[in-house]
Amino acid sequence: MPRDPSHKFRLPPLLLTSLLILILAAFIPSITPRLTLILSHLRSQSTTPKLAKMTSLYSRELEIAQLAVQRASILTKRVFHETSKGTVSKDDASPVTIGDFGAQALIISALKHNFPHDEIVAEEEATELRANPPLRDQIWELVRTTSLDDVAAEGLLGGGIKDADAMLDIIDQGNSKGGKVGRVWTIDPIDGTKGFLRGGQYAVCLALLEDGDVKVGAIGCPNLPVDDAAPLTADIGANATDDEGRGVLFSAVIGQGATSRPLKAGALAEGRSISMKPLTDMSNASFCESVEAGHSNQSESAQIAQKLGITKQSVRMDSQAKYGSIARGAGDIYLRLPTSKTYQEKIWDHAAGDLIVREAGGQVTDIKGNRLNFGVGRTLATNSGVIAAPKAVHSQVLSVVQEVLGVK
Ligand SMILES: *[C@@H]1O[C@H](CO)[C@@H](O)[C@H](O)[C@H]1NC(C)=O
Ligand SMILES: *[C@@H]1O[C@H](CO)[C@@H](O)[C@H](O)[C@H]1NC(C)=O
Ligand SMILES: *[C@@H]1O[C@H](CO)[C@@H](O)[C@H](O)[C@H]1NC(C)=O
Repeated sequence: MPRDPSHKFRLPPLLLTSLLILILAAFIPSITPRLTLILSHLRSQSTTPKLAKMTSLYSRELEIAQLAVQRASILTKRVFHETSKGTVSKDDASPVTIGDFGAQALIISALKHNFPHDEIVAEEEATELRANPPLRDQIWELVRTTSLDDVAAEGLLGGGIKDADAMLDIIDQGNSKGGKVGRVWTIDPIDGTKGFLRGGQYAVCLALLEDGDVKVGAIGCPNLPVDDAAPLTADIGANATDDEGRGVLFSAVIGQGATSRPLKAGALAEGRSISMKPLTDMSNASFCESVEAGHSNQSESAQIAQKLGITKQSVRMDSQAKYGSIARGAGDIYLRLPTSKTYQEKIWDHAAGDLIVREAGGQVTDIKGNRLNFGVGRTLATNSGVIAAPKAVHSQVLSVVQEVLGVK
């Protein structure tokens, strides 16, 4: 009779059991953290919406930021048009107030749905609305219907806000102190309120800071032409209508360049890469500055332009549309010269624009030549003024600015 060969090698049962226990004991400590990680990953996967592309760094933040800015931009356009038609009465409240609160509610709601633990620094807070139920309801109606109409983004931006009171709580979540630690979003729901009122340039701005550095920026400019090559004039977008071909969405991710795309309802339009114009001849440069003399010293900027040999008149426009315009090569230089020793720029007025210009090949500093520091709170407390220009000529512009302003 042949013997069963397996019998020859059979280990005593006691030895086998202890061997197994030993192996398990060695593995468990290294497996436990991994298991926790896998489990938490699975949990977050099941609660966050699926995105088409998850390939590059910050791709999810970029997509959500653009969709949120696009939706908020649509709300501001509706406010503007309903005001001019008389549907929203000018006596009830300023259209700026309505647009500001409504756009901020939509953006914060989209951010909280996707990134519940991130902090938010936003311009508005809801105290005024709590004391004014008719105004609250008017804004709520706009917010509700704008979300309802934006079906294409619904899955990504969340099911919307429950009711008017929930909207107030959402608006108040933009109260972070900012700072140099962690993830902080900055929102300017309507940048350039005077431009908005006159039907000129204004912008809906959103940026993500991580440990004080801008990582993602998106700017919706409903009244800028879609065409990146459209010449920059002071009355660009004046008397804007909703005609096709109006409204552009700029965006950038750190290290990944800047893009522009048409601002439209629904899914994002195809984007195009943008870059600043190579400036070979200073006499041919165009520079932008604020419309408001109180925001930037216009007589000093004229002296600076003259010393640089710039022959064209400055283009005055409101809002971060200036950053977008030079980033796509429609203009070359943006100067913001301090008008007061004590005024501190707000981080939401510059964060998105700073990144978009730098990713398009520009350099952005204050008048001392320091990078803008977004990690010191809700304002740019350590900076004074802004100089944005193509990298190749920035130091030349800076030295003339310092000469004229007497900065050292
Ligand atoms: C915009 O409207 C104002 C007042 O009606 C007019 O003076 C101005 O020329 C218009 N601008 C453009 C670019 O159409
Ligand atoms: C000056 O600007 C015009 C229009 O932007 C351009 O066509 C021309 O080539 C520029 N000239 C120089 C010398 O850069
Ligand atoms: C602009 O600068 C000039 C000269 O430096 C100064 O006299 C003027 O008061 C400044 N204007 C504003 C609005 O700050």
